[in-house]
This record gives sequence, structure tokens and C-alpha cells, in this order.
Amino acid sequence: MEETKHIYPIFDRMLSRSDKEELLKQHSVMIWFTGLSGSGKSTIAIALERELQKRGLLCRILDGDNIRSGINNNLGFSAEDRIENIRRIAEIGKLFVDTGIITIAAFISPNNDIREMAANIIGKEDFMEIYVSTPIEECERRDVKGLYAKARKGEIKNFTGISAPFEAPQHPALSLDTSKLSVEESVNKLLELILPRVTR
Ligand code: PPS
Repeated sequence: MEETKHIYPIFDRMLSRSDKEELLKQHSVMIWFTGLSGSGKSTIAIALERELQKRGLLCRILDGDNIRSGINNNLGFSAEDRIENIRRIAEIGKLFVDTGIITIAAFISPNNDIREMAANIIGKEDFMEIYVSTPIEECERRDVKGLYAKARKGEIKNFTGISAPFEAPQHPALSLDTSKLSVEESVNKLLELILPRVTR
């Protein structure tokens, strides 16, 4: 009797990333934003996604709103919890990249080791590090969520830039200081970098 695998050869292999990239007519990549709270990571990520979608490119944003409130809602801001936060995000991000989707992560990811871990999980060739380098003075001046004021009063412990460290990346693919650049200017710089990479 003939073996099942010969009758159903179509089941022999799972569809690959390139099969999915072909379906979507794009190449996938991880665009990883790092920077202080209030630096503008999520704002730029959202504007970038809109511009890419306009060009027929499918993206997925991962940020605090959809990750820390859901799958990572058991994690806080100790050094260990931040590592676990970023580890899970990188694993999830890898699944999206492997599905052919341009993935945009916007997390403080405060030090070189943590970002190195993320790059290793995702694969260095797929990891594009973008530093939103807005100075702390400007982030604190904006204080969109009122967290800097609370951190200064000691009401929030381990607050990045105040009572917990932030290490600037050494070799980001791009730095964007939103105290000097408009959202549109930042997105234009990103498009210049990203479009050649994701367009087929
Ligand atoms: S990390 O360091 O990558 O794990 O942080 P992340 O997941 O990006 O979460 C940062 C957002 O959480 C809010 N928040 C804090 N940030 C820093 N330190 C402390 N202690 C803290 N507590 C709460 C803060 O609003 C960050 O939001 P963003 O969007 O970065 O402004």
C-alpha cells in the first residue's frame, strides 16, 4: 500500500517565510524603536505604519498598549521583568517577521544587552535598530502621562532616565531626535531607509 506522504505530498512542508512574503508582495523586517518614555517612539511607529500601508505594505505594531496590557501584564519594571518583557516581545516579533509582515516594535528596551538579546532572537539580519534620541529634558517637559513628575517625587520606582538607567545604542541604523524633527521628517528618513529593504 502506498504511504500517505506520497498521496498527500502537499503536506510535506510548511509554507515558508518567502512563500508568505511572495503572497504579500513585500519583504519583512523588524523595525525596533528604542528610546526614553515620551521620546516619540509610538507616535513615529503609528505614522510610519500609515505611510507603509499607503504603499501597499502590511505592518504590525507591537507597543506597550498591546503587549504590556495583555500578554505581559504580569511584568513590572525591575531589571529582570524588563528582560522578560523584551524576550517575549522579540519571540512574538519573530513570528510576525516569519509571516512576512513588517514588524514595528516600540519599547524603551533600555540597554545594549537587552537589545542584543532581542536582535539575537529575531536574527541580526532582520533587526533594524532605530534610536529615538529625544533628550530627557524634552521628554520630561512633555510628560504626556505625568510619569516623570511622579518619578521625581519618588512615587514611581525604577523610572527609566530618572532612577533606572538608559544606555544609548552604539550603532543604530538611524537616530531621530523629535525635539528637532517633525513626525513627518522622521517618517521620511525612515521611509528612505526601509522602503528599499521591504519593497519587492
Ligand atoms: S521596557 O523598559 O522596554 O521594558 O519598557 P516598556 O515595555 O517600553 O514600557 C515603557 C512604558 O511603561 C510606562 N512606565 C514606565 N517606563 C519606564 N520606567 C518605569 N518605571 C515605568 N513605569 C511605567 C511608561 O509609560 C512607558 O511608556 P512609553 O510609551 O515608553 O512612554
